[in-house]
Amino acid sequence: MAKDPVRVLVTGAAGQIGYALVPMIARGVMLGPDQPVILHMLDIPPAAEALNGVKMELVDAAFPLLKGVVATTDAVEACTGVNVAVMVGGFPRKEGMERKDVMAKNVSIYKSQASALEQHAAPNCKVLVVANPANTNALILKEFAPSIPAKNITCLTRLDHNRALGQISERLGVQVSDVKNAIIWGNHSSTQYPDVNHATVKTPAGEKPVRELVADDAWLNGEFISTVQQRGAAIIKARKLSSALSAASSACDHIRDWVLGTPEGTFVSMGVYSDGSYNVPAGLIYSFPVTCKNGEWSIVQGLSIDEFSRKKLDLTAAELSEEKDLAYSCLS
Ligand code: NAD
Ligand code: LMR
Repeated sequence: MAKDPVRVLVTGAAGQIGYALVPMIARGVMLGPDQPVILHMLDIPPAAEALNGVKMELVDAAFPLLKGVVATTDAVEACTGVNVAVMVGGFPRKEGMERKDVMAKNVSIYKSQASALEQHAAPNCKVLVVANPANTNALILKEFAPSIPAKNITCLTRLDHNRALGQISERLGVQVSDVKNAIIWGNHSSTQYPDVNHATVKTPAGEKPVRELVADDAWLNGEFISTVQQRGAAIIKARKLSSALSAASSACDHIRDWVLGTPEGTFVSMGVYSDGSYNVPAGLIYSFPVTCKNGEWSIVQGLSIDEFSRKKLDLTAAELSEEKDLAYSCLS
């Protein structure tokens, strides 16, 4: 029997990530090849005409799984009945800007959209915040939508996670699909900590630790980390626009694994509400290693954290605490 359609909201749908993301959702990349979807697309009035153009293209593409399109500038209409909300709307970082610079513009959007989601989304709606500062926007959304369970509000660090896998695969000349269990800790910013201490590569002789195969701690503790941390800025420098196709693809990975589950023995990185695991302060949206089952994520427990890692986990937590204070000062 055909499944009922799932309603997926994409805010900022007329923007560049939106333009890459909506066809992926309509093709089943996010929720699976047998899952019909109804797309809800929200943007602001100056982008209404462009948004309508995207809707026209979705119709023209005749996606078999796409059962309807709502394209609107009204947040209530956009949020009504949605099961999944991908929050991309906001102002992107330009060359030379730190993510903090886009804070004031974006947190006020997330405060107001929190209420629309809280009041009109389907119960148990899963929320993924992509727009920067992603962790802090997600925290503001959570705090101003108190009836949405904290476990339903997440932010995107899967792009950073995938970037880490990509760097290891390039360095070792192996398939990226054979590399797993890298971890992004903390903020989706240049203080994030890409950690490969638990990462492995599938080889004909079984799974081997990345550290053993790379055999170059100086690279793993230095250039590898800074390349992943600075990748967003490198893309902006090269494209004069921030990453879009990789962001859209990673957003699909994030929701797919959350809804359909992570493969056995594999963990991924998600920005989630901290419960104090790994001595990360509770009450921040912080990226952790997680596994997902039955539509719920759980933080992977018991991983060893050496002194080098501990410092990096604390540094990015400190930045998130600072961002939280700054966000509240922007809202007051
Ligand atoms: P973009 O400027 O191309 O698109 C943003 C869209 O949001 C625009 O169409 C704009 O009109 C719309 N918008 C602005 N205010 C809105 C509001 N109140 N409600 C609904 N829509 C609104 O930007 P982009 O390149 O698509 O990037 C979007 C966001 O994603 C940026 O904040 C960017 O920094 C962030 N980003 C995050 C990651 C990540 O890994 N977390 C990766 C890449 C980009
Ligand atoms: C990215 O990581 O590509 C995005 O967050 C864009 C940015 O501002 O770096």
